[in-house]
Amino acid sequence: MDTTNFLHLPENELERKLIEISKKAMEKSYSPYSNFRVGAALLTSEGKVYMGANIENASFGATVCAERTAVIKAVSDGYIRFNAIAISSDAQSFIYPCGICRQFLSEFDKGEMKVICSNKSGEYKSFKLSELMPCIFEL
Ligand code: THU
Repeated sequence: MDTTNFLHLPENELERKLIEISKKAMEKSYSPYSNFRVGAALLTSEGKVYMGANIENASFGATVCAERTAVIKAVSDGYIRFNAIAISSDAQSFIYPCGICRQFLSEFDKGEMKVICSNKSGEYKSFKLSELMPCIFEL
């Protein structure tokens, strides 16, 4: 059990912690078709962290990305405001959220959500979700 008070960490420590948790989340990836493991760590505005992994399906289009797994877990527990999400994969290059996940995350963004994209070496780049996904679809 991680007792870190995430809401009070300095920015760079928070980013490193979330990346570490997203790497841990990769262990639960179900990815027999691509063999590409992805993990996400989603920080709620209350300071709770939800982990998510990609869950693939033989009907490839039914696959759920790690980011959406984490959001679905959090929202179904009653958490709908998020400060940040970190994403990790096995790739040496940086992993960025796909377009569907950007739209999916944007549903719950009030303009402040950070997206922390890492590579295998643990280097990271941090963005505002609204930078990665301007002009979202809204009803
Ligand atoms: N994937 C994610 O989990 N997140 C993304 O943002 C991009 C792609 C997963 C889906 C699939 O299981 C695998 O990566 C290869 O596309």
